[in-house]
Amino acid sequence: MCGIVGILGKAPVAELLVDSLKRLEYRGYDSAGVATLEGDHLERRRAEGKLKNLEKRLQAEPLKGHTGIGHTRWATHGKPTENNAHPHGTDRVAVVHNGIIENFRELRQALEKKGTVFKTETDTEIVLHLVDSLLQQGIKPVEAVRAALSELRGAFALGFIFAGDDDLMIGARNGPPLAIGHGDGEMYLGSDAIALGPFTDTISYLEDGDWVVLTRKGATVYDKNNAIVHRDAVKHSASTSLVDKANYRHFMAKEIHEQPEVVGHTLARYVDMASERVTLPVQLPFDFKDIQRISITACGTANYAGYVAKYWFERLARVPVEIDIASEFRYREAPLRKGDLAIFISQSGETADTLAALRYAKAEGVHTLSVVNVPTSTIARESETVLQTLAGPEIGVASTKAFTCQLMVLASLAVAAGKARGELSDEDETKLVHGLVEIPRLMAAALTLEPQIEKLARDISKSKDVLYLGRGTSYPMALEGALKLKEISYIHAEGYAAGELKHGPIALIDENMPVVVIAPFDRVFEKTVSNMQEVAARGGNIILMTDAKGAAEATVDSLVTIVLPDMASAFTPMVYAIPVQLLAYHTAVVMGTDVDQPRNLAKSVTVE
Ligand code: F6R
Repeated sequence: MCGIVGILGKAPVAELLVDSLKRLEYRGYDSAGVATLEGDHLERRRAEGKLKNLEKRLQAEPLKGHTGIGHTRWATHGKPTENNAHPHGTDRVAVVHNGIIENFRELRQALEKKGTVFKTETDTEIVLHLVDSLLQQGIKPVEAVRAALSELRGAFALGFIFAGDDDLMIGARNGPPLAIGHGDGEMYLGSDAIALGPFTDTISYLEDGDWVVLTRKGATVYDKNNAIVHRDAVKHSASTSLVDKANYRHFMAKEIHEQPEVVGHTLARYVDMASERVTLPVQLPFDFKDIQRISITACGTANYAGYVAKYWFERLARVPVEIDIASEFRYREAPLRKGDLAIFISQSGETADTLAALRYAKAEGVHTLSVVNVPTSTIARESETVLQTLAGPEIGVASTKAFTCQLMVLASLAVAAGKARGELSDEDETKLVHGLVEIPRLMAAALTLEPQIEKLARDISKSKDVLYLGRGTSYPMALEGALKLKEISYIHAEGYAAGELKHGPIALIDENMPVVVIAPFDRVFEKTVSNMQEVAARGGNIILMTDAKGAAEATVDSLVTIVLPDMASAFTPMVYAIPVQLLAYHTAVVMGTDVDQPRNLAKSVTVE
């Protein structure tokens, strides 16, 4: 994941920028750079590879400026070359960027038409030229950034400095976090408190849509409507540990909010946005054309990610998929055909049952592929192919960001499978990639529903039982919703396929039973609505999670509707995971449970 740092200092900042970037090394990167203001003009030093290469560049050509920005780049658009490394710059402005500019192709075409020549393959260069073209017209930096931000779509964090203005730095946040550090006559910008640890213990976090104008005297923060807003400063210990809660009350809350960023990074590893193709980071040792059946095995939340993927593989690649709970699979002696594919999903990569299932599958002679978050884990080491999720360390026991990153990897793999099997055309792939690319932004939009969900959680916390319903890929999301709620709030909850309701569970419905219906406006929406009507007719209290189209169509009484962004693609579970997680989280907070370490649960289950 990219790292950002910026300093408006009293002394030369280049060395300090590099020291701070070292603290962000844990995020992973493949090139780095700094830009400083030397007198009136901007200078940049960048290098491929590790920070020691950048340090060598700086020794050979030192920088003395007191105003600067630094960046570690984890390549998304374009290779990890010096040319693609950040900061990007013109004579007038330098910029660092973390995240994804979703509409970069349209913006690039528009600028190229006006004669802008692009020098890199990155989406960041769009931001540079948008701002630069306004500066060239004589527009002042603050106005130029304000106008440029209004053109950008995606999930991103940005930092800018400007030639000729030694006392100005601008930051913007729309998804990935960005923090302001308050010093004594100095100000800082950083991806997180860890980056700012050596400089200050007083930090304010920007909220989504915020942008900030920094001078050495302080910070003026604007919200997405360009109104000046106040963001509290909080104290952090100077030795801020590598994994801290930022300004969240629990790791789980922080991890829910990190999702637009980490899912974006996972997306960037598996999808090439410039060519609009899925590009797996590893060569598969099999051809999807030869696979007659896929078996997916995992536990808990990871198993539900697999369940969602079953629908994707079957629909996009027309390949039959069996999904199993690892503790069942390992002893059931399932017959596996040599040369077929077995997929194992695990955040920790250490889950005993999943590992045993992997060993069984290997012994049966199938190809083994694991989707893991910890690349050094046992499951990763023992699998033939490893596809890593880039969720970063997940501390909360209840899995959130690992789940959505697993979904992103599996969605990409399903598209790759469909393509390899001749089920998807180039055009289909482009459309599906568009659907994937917009996920981080839609997740960020879903997070804005938090106040409504927080209120709703107060009602849910009074219930003894909660039912979750869904069809298609929303069925495993119903299972996941129920699991999340019960494991952290200790309220009994069950997930059902909506169509299964009248085969038993409908007997439970009365006015005391909240029923959460997960129903994006997709091809099974109407069917789910009729199941919802059956619930309403029996006095059930329905909480409907849908989109604007769904909300307009679903005319059922006594309804709380959580309206998510409209989305055309089949990849709704990544976005619907957000309200599902937030509802469980806020209910648990109301109940006063130990959210990050719920009773009886362990993060890594290494016993069967
Ligand atoms: C639920 C949860 C668990 C894990 C399960 C598998 O929130 O976290 O159900 O998903 O224990 O763990 P991993 O993914 O580490 O194999």
